[in-house]
Parts: sequence; structure tokens; C-alpha cells
Amino acid sequence: MDARDLLRSVRMAGSARGRRTVAAAWRRERADARDLPRYGAERARVPGAAVRAEPMPGGGTVHFARSVLRVRVAAGGAVFCGWDGAAPEPSYALAGPSTWSPAPGLADGGCPAADPRALLEPDQGGWRVVSERVTVRVSAHGAVEFRTPGGRLLRRELPPRWWDPAGAAEGTRGARWVQRSETPADARVYGLGGRAAGPRLAAGTYRLWNTDPGSPFEPGDDPLYITMPVQLLVSDAGCHLVFHDNTWDGRVTLRDGEEGAGSGHDRHGGCELRMDGGPLRYWVVAGTPSRVLAGWTALTGRPALPPRWALGHQHARWGFGSGQEVRRVAAGYREHGLPLSALHLDIDHFDGHRVFTVDRARFPDLPGLAHDLGEQGVRLVSVVGPAVKREPGLAAYDGGRAVDAFVRDARGREVRGTVWPGEAVFPDFTDPAVRAWWGGLYAERLAQGFAGVRHDMNEPVSFAAFGEPTLPRSARHALEGAGGDHRQAHNVYGLAMAAAGYQGLRELRPEQRPFLVSRSGWAGMQRYGGTWSGDVATGWAGLRASLALVLGLGLCGVPYSGPDVGGFTGSPSPELYLRWFQLGAYLPFFRTHSAIDAGPREPWEFGPEVLEHARAALAERARLLPYLDTLAHVAHRTGAPYVRPLWWNSPGDRALRDCGDAFLLGDSLLVAPVLEPGVTMRAVRLPRGLWYDTATGEAHRGRTRVRLAAPQGRIPVLARAGAVLPVAGEGGAVELEAWAPRRDRSGGGVLFTGDPDGWGRPRMERFVSRWADGAVLVEQDGGEEPGYAVRVRGAGS
Ligand code: GLC
Repeated sequence: MDARDLLRSVRMAGSARGRRTVAAAWRRERADARDLPRYGAERARVPGAAVRAEPMPGGGTVHFARSVLRVRVAAGGAVFCGWDGAAPEPSYALAGPSTWSPAPGLADGGCPAADPRALLEPDQGGWRVVSERVTVRVSAHGAVEFRTPGGRLLRRELPPRWWDPAGAAEGTRGARWVQRSETPADARVYGLGGRAAGPRLAAGTYRLWNTDPGSPFEPGDDPLYITMPVQLLVSDAGCHLVFHDNTWDGRVTLRDGEEGAGSGHDRHGGCELRMDGGPLRYWVVAGTPSRVLAGWTALTGRPALPPRWALGHQHARWGFGSGQEVRRVAAGYREHGLPLSALHLDIDHFDGHRVFTVDRARFPDLPGLAHDLGEQGVRLVSVVGPAVKREPGLAAYDGGRAVDAFVRDARGREVRGTVWPGEAVFPDFTDPAVRAWWGGLYAERLAQGFAGVRHDMNEPVSFAAFGEPTLPRSARHALEGAGGDHRQAHNVYGLAMAAAGYQGLRELRPEQRPFLVSRSGWAGMQRYGGTWSGDVATGWAGLRASLALVLGLGLCGVPYSGPDVGGFTGSPSPELYLRWFQLGAYLPFFRTHSAIDAGPREPWEFGPEVLEHARAALAERARLLPYLDTLAHVAHRTGAPYVRPLWWNSPGDRALRDCGDAFLLGDSLLVAPVLEPGVTMRAVRLPRGLWYDTATGEAHRGRTRVRLAAPQGRIPVLARAGAVLPVAGEGGAVELEAWAPRRDRSGGGVLFTGDPDGWGRPRMERFVSRWADGAVLVEQDGGEEPGYAVRVRGAGS
């Protein structure tokens, strides 16, 4: 405990909750000191010299003096490397049928079969495996290189080092390890889950431990709620993703490369990964950005398709005092003519903050409220946290005890923590039986009329007066039968809870696609739903962080996310609120939300001008719904995020790699939000191609930096020449907005239509556009006339 911790605990000891958090923190420290293994001054182990190698389908195994490396190219092109005998499964990220089947009806991910064409062969004193997408070369001392088919270096892993716990046999669980890698000098790194300082991750150290920062966060705060050992690298040599399939606490240190100004003396970039335990195994997926995301989500599961209503505007607040207040907010949206898709109820509608209960005094008839709002097209979404109040007689507590659901310590006692309802216990979601029990509890939520859920506090949080606000590291977990402790289970707690919730909703309401957003998670969480920023600080820095999070998560395979529009705390200025709202209108999860003591976030609370501009943003969002819906289907089928960095289609354009203040929305639009105060013009560097300012129709050449008007009323949005964009026309009917292709080029677009919230097969239509007889012609792929009204824009420029 340091001095700050001490102060915090003295301050907190004044209240009942404070006293509980002090006691919980002491309990956690005591348990860990008693039950965790101690590390001594072990000597590092390295693989040593290679002894022999055996080819196997997909690659082979190289035996070193003190370790074994398995290399296996999978069908689809992803390469697996496992040291010390580590196999791809079991894995929480892959979640293939051989571990636990999470999501019937979804592409589950899973470990693909080996590509029989790839074989380990001797090569210059080492070995190599040649595959379609990469060539892997293993040196005689255990360095591993990944090169493009053209021979350009993507990454080089140096021989790893392990520190085996005293007395443990080599290669058994519990060893800490470090792996250093070298990357091209021009490489840029993205990902590692939801990072506030991205999307490009600057040199520095990033922790892999899901964490509630405890107070509103800004770009400097790290780690946050979702960490993942997933890095996407972009360099001139190509793009690749590397995923270390290890759930333990760890640290990634990135070092920038230096380019030797054409002299050929580049200093490569570097990465050092240090893990506190768990297997040293990783996957490398190489190719164009879209192929990488397709490969990654083939491995870990395609993103769930949200119900269509989840693409509309949603409003939330911690502190809705009553059903009446919720009705008043909905009426406000209606009276101001603002579309609203969902309202989120927070912990205040629970009885004494206890999950799966309702405060009947303040919310006497939730099903009636849900029904009335439903008539107006507004759904209710419920917060759900994992902590169950330790209170005999409470259904969730008694039911959980009956199936032995709650996490226990090494001595077999239930681990007690402190969360909103007071003293609480925590379901062990790494136990399939517990997931099944928990999923069944959502029947109560559905009976109350909720259309979806938002999982919160699932890092998991247990308030602590000092030290880490989570469970003791020594707490025991089932880990799918393998058994282990919280060091291994912590980072997948939210993921496994999402699996439980998703599965429960699927079974309880099989005809509808679940709506689930989860604050915490891990690689593969996209199978179950999306996420949101968490408690982002109200301020311009928080606004920038919210875009960084959405972009970074998308590159980790989690495409559906968005911030608390307006920021979680305090009161944004009208200008800040409006700029946040205008950005949010182009992000997948578009939701205003704030803390209990924060100012209002309804668009009419910021004066008539802001109201008008927010109305325009909402109208544009509504107009773009067919496009957003199409992007949701594309994400579900291919893993390509809705929100993409500017380099997505031009990873070779170095100038785009550091851009964190503009993004592509699908293939057709480029959005340049305003992220600074007092700005009415902003610059953006355009990717290759020709781009139209959608407000003025003016055409701009790509690969140039342009300045665009960004008046209070709108943020700059550009359309790619040739784009055929499905939009909602008058009365909501789908229309095609076709932006003239360049004279010598053709263009196109796609449209998905279908079941708004069920499982029916969608219909996909493709369109092509080209110049014919001095006019732009849009046809259905195949030459027929499209069955939609077409509006051509940009043809005069
Ligand atoms: C957490 C959540 C926030 C929520 C609050 C109360 O801080 O991140 O969204 O409003 O808890 O439930």
C-alpha cells in the first residue's frame, strides 16, 4: 500500500461502503499473499540449439535443447506458433466446437484444419514453411521470421526466454516469459483492445489487464476495460495481425523504428511482450487489411449482427429517478421531432441496486412502460452487472448457491467483494454450468419488457480502498474444467459473461437477434455483441479518445462500439456536446449517456441552435440507416469494421498511418469530425481516388491535403467517386445515391436488406455505376435496372 492508497482508504473508512471497500481490499491482499506462488531468482531458460525437426500437416515441430516449437499453417492462411508444446486449443478466443460452443447460428470461429500443402523443410541451417500468404523461417536457435511471399520481412521474433517457477518441470504452466520482436522501421501498430491514446499506438508500454480506471478516463489513461494481446501492424512490406493467445496479465512495450532517410540504415521497430504466465503461443494473419480482418474473424468468430434498431439513436442516463422520468424523456424526443430507438435503464431501476430486481416504488410497471414506449418505436435496454448481493433470500443469490456458481478462494470460501448493492459475490463464468444458469436469469429481464442488455462492471470490479479494484488473483476459477486462478481468468471474465448472456437470450427468445454490449471483454467478444467506451471524461481529450477506441476495437475484430456521447461526467459546453453528437451520428453505437451527478444530455438542453444541428445529425443518421445496416451485414460476413482508418484501402500510403482524427465509414464515406474547440475549417489528407464533399458537391483529388468547411451545423463528410450508397429517401424507402465515378472508371456498391431483428437470410444486391453517353448509369450487377430510385450526384464536377 503506498501513501496514496493509504489516504484513499482513510477517506473511505468514513462510510459503510467505504468500510466495506477497505475490508475487501485487505481480504484480497491477505488471500493473495497466502495463496499465490512466489517467484524466486530463477534463471532464464532459452530454447537452446535445434536438435531435430519433424514435418507435420501444415508445418511441423522443431525440437530445441530446452523447448519445442510447433508451426502450423491453417486453412485460410493463419499461421500458428506454439512453444513448449502449446497447442491452439483450448482457447477462449477461438471458442471452437471442441472447447465450448458459444453461439449457434453464428460463424463460431474455432481452430481451422491444417493446410496440408504447407510443410516444414530444411533451409540454410534452419527450417522454413512456405504458405500462400507468408513464409515462416525458424533459425537453429529459435528465432522465427515471417515474410511476405515476395520475401519482405513482416516480423522477426527473437528466441523467447522463460522463467520457470522453482521446482516446476520445464514447460509447465506458471512460467513467466518474454518475447522480443523486430518489425520494419516504417511499421505502425494498432489494436491491443480499447486504448484511449490510439488508434496508432505510440512507443511506450501497454498493460494487458482489463481495468476499470475508477474515474473518467482520457487519452493518457491505460489500461482500460478491454485489453487484448492483438496487434495489427501496417508497413510498406504489408499488413499483418499478431495475436498472443494468452489471457494472463502482461505488458507490451513498443519501440518506434527509425528510417535512415533512404541510406538503407533503418533501425527496425520493436515490440517486447512480457507475460506473467500462460502459454507462449500466437497466430499471425497476413494480407491486405480486409483479408487480415476476414482471417482474424474466421478464427475468432464473425461479429454478431445487431438488431436493426440498435443502429438508431439511443439515450441513457445513470439516474433516471422513476418510470415517469423515463416517459418524460421519451416524450421530449417525440415533441422535438427527434428519432429515438432505445432508452437504457441503469442501476437505479433495481431494488437496492440488486441485479435482476426492480424498484417497484419508482418503476411500478416496467412491462407497461416497455409496452407504451414500444408503441412509439423505443426499446428498453437494461444494465446487468455480474456482482450478486450476498443476501440469502435473494433469488439470484440463492439460485447461484444452489449450483455453486460463485467464485471461491483457495480455501473454498466464497470470495466477497463490494459493488453497487453492497457486499457481493461473483459468478464464475468460466464454468459452463454457471453460464447456463446465468443465461436463464435473463428470463426475468425479458419478462420486464427489456429488448437488450448492457453488461457493466465485468472487468470484474470490486471496489477497493487500495490496490486493484477486482477479485484476488488467487481466487479459483473452473476455466472450462481445467481449473486455475484469477490471474488466468481475469481477462476473459467479461467475455465469458457475454457468452452466458448471449446464449441465454438466444435460448429464451430464439426468434430475435440479441442486443448485447459489454464494457469488458477479450479477443473474440464480437461473437456476442459490441461494447461502449466506458466512462470517458467530458472534454475535448475525451472526445478524441472516443474515436481512438472505436477505431482500435474495430481493428481487433469488434466493430460495434461507440462512446458516451457528451462524455460521462460533468456538463459539456454546447459546442463540445454538439461536436460529440455529430461524431456519434457516424459511429455504429450512437448513444448519449452520463453519470448520476452529470448535467443533462438531451439535445434540447443546450439551446435552440444546438437542437437544430443535433436534429440535422439525427436526420442524416436516419437517412444513412440502409447504408449502416449494410455495413453491419458486411461486418458480420467479413469482419471488416464499419469504422475504418483512412489507410484501410491504401496501407502503402504512409502519410495516412498516423491520422487519428478522420475515418472511413464503410467503403463509400470519409468522415472528418471536429475534435477541437473553435474550429470551423479543418484539414484532412485524402486517400487515393477522387472525393466529393457531400455538402457542396465539390470534388477533391486524393493523396492531397484539403481544407474543408466545418461550420457549427455539420462536420465534413466526403463520398468516394463511384460510390453507390443505399440511403433512406422520402417515407423511408431505399434509394441509391450514386456519386459520379471518374470518367475513365466505374464504381459500385452493395445493399443488404432483410429481417430487421430475426435470423432470416438477408438479400444482397450489387450495383455498378459507369459513364454512358455523357451520363452516369447505375445498374444492378447483371445489367438490369435497379429496383430503387437513383439519385446521381457529382456528375457536374
Ligand atoms: C459504470 C458504467 C456507467 C454506468 C455506471 C452506473 O460507471 O460505466 O456506464 O452508468 O457504472 O451503473
